[in-house]
Amino acid sequence: MISEVMQNAINAQISREMYSSNLYLSMAAYFQNINLNGFANWMRVQAQEEMSHALKFFDYLLMRNGTPRIGSIDAPTNSWENTLACFEAAYKHEQYITKNINELADLAIKNGDHASLILLQWFVNEQVEEEATSNEIVDRLRLAGDSKSGLFILDNELKQRKFVDATQEAK
Ligand SMILES: [Fe+2]
Ligand SMILES: [Fe+2]
Repeated sequence: MISEVMQNAINAQISREMYSSNLYLSMAAYFQNINLNGFANWMRVQAQEEMSHALKFFDYLLMRNGTPRIGSIDAPTNSWENTLACFEAAYKHEQYITKNINELADLAIKNGDHASLILLQWFVNEQVEEEATSNEIVDRLRLAGDSKSGLFILDNELKQRKFVDATQEAK
């Protein structure tokens, strides 16, 4: 059975993953409203991905005979200065989540909880990807600068993204 301290820390992370999902859904609405449908699609898929992260922790707690507790989740912001500012906020948010995942891994080590550590290593890898992908889009938006065609090329590319439930794959 999972320890109380580890269970509480994972439950807090479930709320953060759900907040992430809501944040990206809010960003999807922002982009859809300004007709950047590719960016909106990317954010919508990102929201699904965050919910799958919440569920991965949720299922893990149940498997360890623990209890997932759904806490209150803050409302996310719903407007941004522009496309770049929105993606900068997404990148910054992922850096914050990485910090939380690292702290959870530290806690698992401190408690000798090997099973939780293995789960968290999946998330450590996931965060490397999450930071890299959001940062790449930030870089490309900076590169595009004021170019409308640059923005539309990127929008078209992001339209292609489809949700794949990576939580079901080994890493
Ligand atoms: Fe996540
Ligand atoms: Fe994420």
